Amino acid sequence: MNIKEGMMREGALKGKTIVITGGGSGLGKAMTKYFMELGANTVITSRRIALLRDTAKELEGSTGGQCLPVQCDVRELAQVEAVRDAAIDKFGKVDILLNNAAGNFISPTERLSANAFKTIIDIVLLGTVNCTLTFGKHWINTKQDKGNVLNIVTTYAWTGSGYVVPSACAKGGVVAMTKSLAFEWAKYNIRFNAIAPGPFPTKGAWDRLLPGNLKDDLDISKQVPLKRVGEHQELANLAAYMVSDFADYMNGEIVTLDGGEQIRAGQFNNLEMIPNEMWDQLEAMIRSTKKK
Ligand code: HXC
Ligand code: NAP
Repeated sequence: MNIKEGMMREGALKGKTIVITGGGSGLGKAMTKYFMELGANTVITSRRIALLRDTAKELEGSTGGQCLPVQCDVRELAQVEAVRDAAIDKFGKVDILLNNAAGNFISPTERLSANAFKTIIDIVLLGTVNCTLTFGKHWINTKQDKGNVLNIVTTYAWTGSGYVVPSACAKGGVVAMTKSLAFEWAKYNIRFNAIAPGPFPTKGAWDRLLPGNLKDDLDISKQVPLKRVGEHQELANLAAYMVSDFADYMNGEIVTLDGGEQIRAGQFNNLEMIPNEMWDQLEAMIRSTKKK
């Protein structure tokens, strides 16, 4: 067993059609690749059509599966509806929507223009809303037997985080939508779940969140209790399970995959700095209080 290996059984996604927003790069590409290895037809979308075409060609070559690249800015409802139509033309139906597209960059919030803030909210929250409503209404109107939405969020959607405030607000909104629609659309047999990844190095995220020397100066793996960043296949394994029929009873769940990064806040966690040999002394001091 190796964390870079796929964990699902062969053919686990056979016959499924999956739309992956932001599927041309980074984590979206890694998940798309694994879905194809498991037999799914995929539709990848983003703004850069040349990149999407290259990715589709590469993944079709390496997996033997099918991947349709469609240009789409998720902020534009008409473009999202065109993705739905292109996917149905090509594959007959869509089973799963993976809302993975995002925009983000670090900045002190007081430096942000109104448009900068709105840009992130529009990509992350409005984009997820546009895709979810487009595919959700389609599934409801056509009485499709089931639908499935997986959203990629972040752990700071609930802890909050300075310097990425528009992203935190938008991802928080996506978490709320995940849980709300998991309840409301369960009656249509549409499942909603999310994954909150910790640090998984990608060019898109690292260029905007750890520019220049910051990636060496901050060494993000040090803030993870397991002292490492995530492997793309680890995320792909979880995503493949969550979108598969094996997870049919999972609904309204947000799964964190972060090596324990988000639990750093634990009040006594800084006792890590106490050397082992000092614990004999500390224990004796604590025990002695009982005798007094
Ligand atoms: C301040 C900035 C800025 C910066 C852009 N703006 N970059 N303000 N600091 N570094 C401002 C612009 O001046 C403009 O406002 C507004 O934001 C919109 O900028 P545009 O460049 O016109 O927007 P657009 O072309 O739509 O590009 C969107 C983008 C870009 C988000 C700015 O970075 C992008 O395309 N990102 C997509 C990929 C991405 O971000 N991937 C990382 C996801 S990582 P004005 O007022 O001048 O008009 C992620 C991980 C989370 O989410 C968790 C990690 C652990
Ligand atoms: P990435 O490669 O930059 O992925 C973002 C994708 O979104 C790109 O393919 C981008 O393609 C697409 N996108 C951006 N704006 C769009 C728009 N308006 N319309 C359509 N597509 C758009 O970065 P990543 O790290 O793989 O991020 C993927 C997801 O994981 C995001 O939801 C991110 O928030 C989440 N995440 C990542 C990490 C991490 O450590 N990497 C941690 C937590 C959460 P175009 O530029 O071609 O449009």
